[in-house]
Amino acid sequence: MKAKTEDKLVLTGFPGLTIIHLDICNSTNDYLKRHFRKLKDRFPVLLISDEQKKGRGRGNRHWFSSRLKGLYASLAVDITRKVNLNLLPLSCGIVVLETLKAINQESFSLKWPNDIIVQNKKIAGILVENIIQGEEIICICGFGINLSHEEDDFPEELKEKSISIKMLSGKPPNIDIFVSLLVKNFFKWFDILKNGKDPSILEMVRKANYFSKGDKISLQGKNGRTSGSFIDILSDGSIAIERDNGEILTFYTGEIYTGD
Ligand code: BTN
Repeated sequence: MKAKTEDKLVLTGFPGLTIIHLDICNSTNDYLKRHFRKLKDRFPVLLISDEQKKGRGRGNRHWFSSRLKGLYASLAVDITRKVNLNLLPLSCGIVVLETLKAINQESFSLKWPNDIIVQNKKIAGILVENIIQGEEIICICGFGINLSHEEDDFPEELKEKSISIKMLSGKPPNIDIFVSLLVKNFFKWFDILKNGKDPSILEMVRKANYFSKGDKISLQGKNGRTSGSFIDILSDGSIAIERDNGEILTFYTGEIYTGD
């Protein structure tokens, strides 16, 4: 896929950042995964696409990516193995949460690991994928944020559970300002992570947490479903769930559903 234009967005204040703006691609995460070797010298790279033909969500799900309705963006950065990688998806969640809070007064929350929820509906999702190269790790942080959808723009199966900034505020955000804020917040939290300030990340995650202790939840993981009560997000980024028999289990990945 060839970049239609580079630096089409007017982002100022990020001198070292390479910006690639595509008209359309399959998936911004996949594009960076495919091209990271030749882009490596230009890291960090921000890739935005106006549309995705095969937008991907967590757990192999599809991410609905109709033209210019949402922000479809991926940031590629490299880090060393010293960083607590489990906290990166949570940090990305905080990045989106802070960005949304800066432009809207609604009460946004973070549903572990990194869905952003407002009015009980999803407004943004994040897909972090890592490429491990010896001591170095390349992280591709993909952000899907609903910007200018009306309810009818979502496919039937998403209508009930999705919301956009336009549905909240009456109008979509200014895209240059919004992306600038997102990138600024990303590098702020990325530095916090790189500097090992894990407690600051966890404090924010707990403050914004969608679940309260004791909430009935179930986690769908690779090996099946676990139901129980939400206990906490632990310092390593995992979620702790207490089963009805009192057993406490922790998980690093999975999809959380409310109720049993
Ligand atoms: C989820 O909630 O399941 C995660 C959704 C992540 C979607 C974004 S859109 C930009 C980037 N490219 C992708 O294919 N997916 C992520």
